[in-house]
Amino acid sequence: MNLHKRILDSLSNAVLVLDQRLVVSYINPAGEMLLGVSARQAMGQLAVDLLQLDARLGDSLAQARDGGHPFTEREVELTPRPELVITVDLSVTPFIDASRDATLLLELQHLDRHLRISREEHLLAQQNATRALIRGLAHEVKNPLGGLRGAAQLLERRLDEAELREYTQVIIGEADRLQALVDRMLGPAKLPRHEELNVHEVLERVRQLVEAESLLSIDADYDPSIPDLVGDRDQLIQALLNIVRNAAQSVGEDGRVAVRTRCHRQFTIGQQRHRLVIGIDVADNGPGIPASMVENIFYPMVTGREGGTGLGLSIAQELIHRHGGLIECTSRPGQTVFRILLPLEGATHEED
Ligand SMILES: Nc1ncnc2c1ncn2[C@@H]1O[C@H](COP(=O)(O)OP(=O)(O)OP(=O)(O)O)[C@@H](O)[C@H]1O
Ligand SMILES: [Mg+2]
Repeated sequence: MNLHKRILDSLSNAVLVLDQRLVVSYINPAGEMLLGVSARQAMGQLAVDLLQLDARLGDSLAQARDGGHPFTEREVELTPRPELVITVDLSVTPFIDASRDATLLLELQHLDRHLRISREEHLLAQQNATRALIRGLAHEVKNPLGGLRGAAQLLERRLDEAELREYTQVIIGEADRLQALVDRMLGPAKLPRHEELNVHEVLERVRQLVEAESLLSIDADYDPSIPDLVGDRDQLIQALLNIVRNAAQSVGEDGRVAVRTRCHRQFTIGQQRHRLVIGIDVADNGPGIPASMVENIFYPMVTGREGGTGLGLSIAQELIHRHGGLIECTSRPGQTVFRILLPLEGATHEED
């Protein structure tokens, strides 16, 4: 028991244990720090009072205790003191303890600004609007481009001098380059095809592709209990490829990239609570995303990479959003994690 307490004490996430009456019977030092209270002050208080939870969350706690069901509630705003507002992801895990001193385990994960950014609905709407703009633009460029290339080819046939043909080759070459860019700007053309698929199969494919092009070896840590999900295989491969490729590009030759899957139960994405959500973490130990950029990386044409088009993440975000999921990111030098969350029930948003 002592060892367990020492482990809890040294965690960097805040942990609280509640007894049968939902009174705090333990709080770890990270919890004291986060809430700005001492363990002495916190113990013996009702959790709803200490955390200033609203009635709905108070009820959820009681239900978790009575029903034995764990849940996670995202972006909960707590005001443990009038001048202190903190936003956390709250995970509640019930367990049975003969002494009844401990019935609920509360984990509070403090959210920093850029972790939240990708979740905010208005930001998603803005990102979608920007994507629509880019798509419209690409569409306009696409048609004349074909004409331009065709005309250069016709002209080339009439030219006798090799020197002059160099010019038409430049036109054709550049038109091809623009064509490829425009195709990426347009994004996936096909309508999504929904089928049952295994997320690890998708990830293995992505791993193979990125390992082949980067010569890195990518670590994998899969949760084999994850059930199949319904989605579009090609689109999921594309989305994950864009993210894993970014990670591989950000690390040096002996850098590390790892993919990890986990199941999250009772997880809220946007306004919707899902029974089961698949979490895919793509982590790398590269230099991280500069603070000046991190809020904008999901917008199209935002790039910090020489030769990058800045389309990868905006396309990935759109594809994952079509599957009812989202992508979030935390980054500091030496550790960048992109987390893709996919509800098991599949698409809840059919995008235009
Ligand atoms: N794992 C990462 N580590 C560091 N920076 C990253 C990482 N992932 C993304 N970025 C930053 O975010 C930017 C945007 O990424 P995004 O994939 O959208 O475009 P890109 O990689 O520049 O171009 P492309 O369209 O070819 O993918 C990158 O240019 C890079 O600066
Ligand atoms: Mg990219």
